[in-house]
Amino acid sequence: MNDHYQVVVYGASGYTGRLVIEFLREYSIPFIAAGRSAQRIEEALRVIPGIENADYEIAEVEHSVPALTELFTGRKVICNTVGPFSRFGEATIEASLAAGCHYLDTTGEQNWMLAMQDKYHDLFESAGLVCSPATAYMFTVSDIAARVCLETPGVDSLDVRVFTHGTPTVASTQSVFDMCRNASYRLENHRLVPYEQTFEPHQLTLPVSGDIVMGTQWGGGSHVVYFRKDSRVRNCNMVLAMANQKIWKGCQELELAYKVQLQWLSDEQLFPVLDQLAGNLQSTMPPRENRHQNRFIDWCHGRGNNVSVSCHITGNNAYQITGLLQAYAAMRLLRDKPVVAGFRSIAEVLGHRDLVGALQAYGYVNMTEQRHC
Ligand SMILES: NC(=O)c1ccc[n+]([C@@H]2O[C@H](COP(=O)([O-])OP(=O)(O)OC[C@H]3O[C@@H](n4cnc5c(N)ncnc54)[C@H](OP(=O)(O)O)[C@@H]3O)[C@@H](O)[C@H]2O)c1
Repeated sequence: MNDHYQVVVYGASGYTGRLVIEFLREYSIPFIAAGRSAQRIEEALRVIPGIENADYEIAEVEHSVPALTELFTGRKVICNTVGPFSRFGEATIEASLAAGCHYLDTTGEQNWMLAMQDKYHDLFESAGLVCSPATAYMFTVSDIAARVCLETPGVDSLDVRVFTHGTPTVASTQSVFDMCRNASYRLENHRLVPYEQTFEPHQLTLPVSGDIVMGTQWGGGSHVVYFRKDSRVRNCNMVLAMANQKIWKGCQELELAYKVQLQWLSDEQLFPVLDQLAGNLQSTMPPRENRHQNRFIDWCHGRGNNVSVSCHITGNNAYQITGLLQAYAAMRLLRDKPVVAGFRSIAEVLGHRDLVGALQAYGYVNMTEQRHC
């Protein structure tokens, strides 16, 4: 393969990989569509809108560090959508670093992110490369809201909230179920503090309507991972509620089943069981999102000793936003030398105002900011 193809979409046969490709084409970026089955990638690409004039090659690759390193060598940006990331993500990070590529992914798995941050931040930073997990709707949109709040001097505490109407894909459901194995954290006084449960129930009061729904901390979120390294932020927590209120209850039941029955199984025995349980909830690829149904509101309250601010982002089509964020980030990383490197939120790397501008340009979000005192 020649140098013409600087971006690799790994997991191109999946629901999210296809959306990343759709937006790479919009930005006229040539790419390699990679995954473990060339046949499945060909089938998946056939249904991508506009694919007929996209500039790409397909690569079948084994999921191993040597094979991925060979594929990535000579490229610049890796868009990784192969999850659950706690199972498959590290090999792709390692290969990206070895090949000298910037790394982006779509995880929302806090526990895995914490481990990868400890292990890879310095290595990527000294190589001048960016490693930005969670370059995805969850949790880049709410990260933008948090960073808008932090623009007000004195804000040191972030209450991040997410309410979404969505249908998780197969790997998304598996990824959520995988999180039941791990502790999740909030930030209190600059320190990581574990929750008692990974899917602990929290009430969420929705903006404007004041309706109360049930949510959980959903594994903790990426904000805590990134803000634990930001001296401005003393406290940070996140609560997420799905409009389908059966989902959080299902996650809680699974966490209980894991603690009572499954935690003693080896990974080889455990993953098929978790996948079967996830498959009971979602076993087929969901349809393309519909903006009249797949809506969300993400918001953050920022507080300090004598300041109070909030930022609300109302939008639609979370998976499409994920595709757009990945492609926009790839476009920027191809063209500009990033001002910061290492394991960092994509909003910190590219600027949160620029990211929201990219989303607004496609009509996906609207943002309001308010200073209360
Ligand atoms: N944070 C967010 O907002 C957000 C948004 C979108 C997605 N995600 C995350 O992104 C991940 C992918 O989601 P998706 O919607 O694309 O799911 P999906 O449609 O189920 O696709 C999964 C992809 O991973 C590949 N894959 C699975 N196991 C593999 C293995 N052992 N080796 C190599 N490739 C493997 C699949 O390849 P085959 O086709 O060959 O099976 C497919 O390309 C999930 O972890 C999901 O949670 C997060």
